Amino acid sequence: MRDQAWKLRSLIEEKASPVEGRGRVLAVTSGKGGVGKTNISVGLALSAARSGIRTALIDGDLGLANIDVLLDLHPGKNLGHLVDGEASLREVLITGPEGIQILPGASGLSRIADMGHSRQQRLLDALGELVSDHDLVIIDTGAGISRSVVDLCHAAGEVLVVTTPEPTAIVDAYAMLKVFSCEVRIPNCWLTVNQAQSRGEAQQVTSRIKSLAKKFLSMDLQDGGAVLYDPRVSASVRKRQHFTMAYPTSPAARSIRELSDGLGMKQPRPVDRGFLHRLKEVFVGDLGRGRERSP
Ligand SMILES: Nc1ncnc2c1ncn2[C@@H]1O[C@H](COP(=O)(O)OP(=O)(O)OP(=O)(O)O)[C@@H](O)[C@H]1O
Ligand SMILES: [Mg+2]
Repeated sequence: MRDQAWKLRSLIEEKASPVEGRGRVLAVTSGKGGVGKTNISVGLALSAARSGIRTALIDGDLGLANIDVLLDLHPGKNLGHLVDGEASLREVLITGPEGIQILPGASGLSRIADMGHSRQQRLLDALGELVSDHDLVIIDTGAGISRSVVDLCHAAGEVLVVTTPEPTAIVDAYAMLKVFSCEVRIPNCWLTVNQAQSRGEAQQVTSRIKSLAKKFLSMDLQDGGAVLYDPRVSASVRKRQHFTMAYPTSPAARSIRELSDGLGMKQPRPVDRGFLHRLKEVFVGDLGRGRERSP
């Protein structure tokens, strides 16, 4: 095991990435599934792109990718072809609304730790290129506390945890934060409450999770506010058009604009050179430590 880890480490060191990342990388995640990660990721990407920010969106759900379905796009190739060496990043990327560059996910892709180092290296190179070419990269992760989700969040360094006001979603969001606090360092961790009936309801949920995280996990969560419940969200999903485009003046669309402002997406930020470094750590760490969490 030590030999294998050493070989991979030297391979990564010698093949230094062409350009260190300069973009902001935000992972959108949740404990419970179906809470609204994909709709929020797409909404934030569209909102940033409308402000002239060069934005890429990665469908990082390695189990059940579906950004393309939500936007009625029909990618020929996906992340699976890319890691298998069957397509280059340029061949895989598709241009979505507002010019966002989308890296379509592959359903049923194995977890990052199990990819084998040549596939990991292709993923590393492609993500490096994507980050260096964009101001903002948003990763829509799968739900739950799987190794790949935690690894992507760790690499991103900035995470938006989505919950709803339902107790099951709250408990699972807290479980996710607990894993972060034990296993990885997330310098910027935001919490947003989706499908809230009112801002007051969202505020109560946020205060409760924030104080639990502070008291028991010593984590300082940042308040990502609320995205209001709005039946036009599911109406838009059925139309396969994002709700910020189909219903730009709806309460949910307004919530996304506020969330984007709250996250400071339109403000210039210092260059983050850490993404690739942390991603390399993830790959080397997986081999070196033989981490065990199931997919
Ligand atoms: N603000 C909202 N108001 C009303 N319904 C919503 C809202 N946000 C999401 N939904 C509903 O929840 C469904 C799931 O949303 P979405 O696919 O974005 O969740 P997800 O967290 O990405 O799910 P998964 O864990 O399966 O990837 C949507 O199809 C929509 O019907
Ligand atoms: Mg999703």
